[in-house]
Amino acid sequence: MTRVETVARALYDLHCYAPDNGWDTTHGKSRRGLYMADARCALKADDDTFAACRVCGAPTRIVADLGSIPLANSFTRDAPRFPVRVEVCDDCVLAQLEETVDPSIMFCEYPYRSSLSSTFVAAAKTLVEAQDVTENDFVVEIGSNDGYLLRHYQCRILGVDPSDVPADVPTRREFFTEHLAEQIRASHGPARVMHANNVIAHCPDPHTIMAGIKTLLDPDGVAYVESPHVDGLAWDTLYHEHVFYWSATAMCRLADKHGLAVVDAERLDVHGGSVRYHLRHRGVPTEAVLDLIGRESSVRWTLDRDMTLDCERLRRIVDRARRAGKRVCGYGAAAKGAVLLAVSGVDVDFVCDTTPGKQGQVMPGTDIPIVDESHLGYADVAVLFAWNFHDEIVNRVEFDGEWVMPHG
Ligand code: TMP
Ligand code: ZN
Repeated sequence: MTRVETVARALYDLHCYAPDNGWDTTHGKSRRGLYMADARCALKADDDTFAACRVCGAPTRIVADLGSIPLANSFTRDAPRFPVRVEVCDDCVLAQLEETVDPSIMFCEYPYRSSLSSTFVAAAKTLVEAQDVTENDFVVEIGSNDGYLLRHYQCRILGVDPSDVPADVPTRREFFTEHLAEQIRASHGPARVMHANNVIAHCPDPHTIMAGIKTLLDPDGVAYVESPHVDGLAWDTLYHEHVFYWSATAMCRLADKHGLAVVDAERLDVHGGSVRYHLRHRGVPTEAVLDLIGRESSVRWTLDRDMTLDCERLRRIVDRARRAGKRVCGYGAAAKGAVLLAVSGVDVDFVCDTTPGKQGQVMPGTDIPIVDESHLGYADVAVLFAWNFHDEIVNRVEFDGEWVMPHG
């Protein structure tokens, strides 16, 4: 057992927290917690008595409370439910979950396939083609999924990903840590390029990832770290897998703590607005980085209000459609869709999704079946749960009914 597990086990023995409904609110005083691999029991390791930012240590405050919702990629009726509360550090503008679920519960059986999105594959190919690498260079991707990015390289490559997703590139089936980085460096040498797309938001311990990048990166190498940006955060992207919603300020502080520098930043139009940070061992930040940092102090926290308004609107639309005898479906069995169903209480007849591994299952915590895209024709109204792929889906998919966007 790790230290945290030992503390949590001792606490469990003391307080006997019941699963989910017995959740201890700690009387308004928030504490760091960790759910154990046994998802039936919500256990807490309270070695902190107040919530401190996981990057800079400053106190945090709650900005959104979604209540207890099912794990968003657990496609069963009985998906375990845990609270989602988001707190923000006003010092480094890092939003973070108050409590975290053990990553091994969420990421080892993971249905997500990056290759199923032509948007992602095209973006990955463009990024790879821009790299100045030769045959003997070594490239590592953290969170390599099915190999959608690495497969475009013509040099030595290694993916790191703990999930059971079949991959067509050499992959270490583990969580990336500083320790693993040391092993990889010893066996393969330093990495000229490293990628970490949408992974540092998912990991409860970003310090080990950053320390691992420091360890493995070639002295002249570059690491690209992509993550949704905290500004413009949509409330339905708040779920257990996303422990962090990064700001450039927090990313620079984290990098600095581990002897790295954020030298550039690009705004990307994915996941409702992401940033690709360029990290090197040393260097000065471009105007783009400074500009992002400059704007972050004025980020507005309207998540709870947006959630209330969006849910009311959606319930109205769905009620009206049903009263008119229309059939309503969802499109995209996205994690966002699971959040939206759980928080709004809206009911749909089925959800279409092109992912073979999701078809035949149900939306997390519901009886709503997930079916292939050919069923879309049976619906009159489709709520686009996967709104982040709006253009790709609406341009490709033939649908005579009405598309409804979750965010107004
Ligand atoms: P995500 O927002 O969590 O990435 O999930 C998007 C979901 O949408 C994923 O399950 C795949 C699905 N999808 C389709 O069904 N059809 C499509 O054309 C695209 C782009 C995604
Ligand atoms: Zn902070």
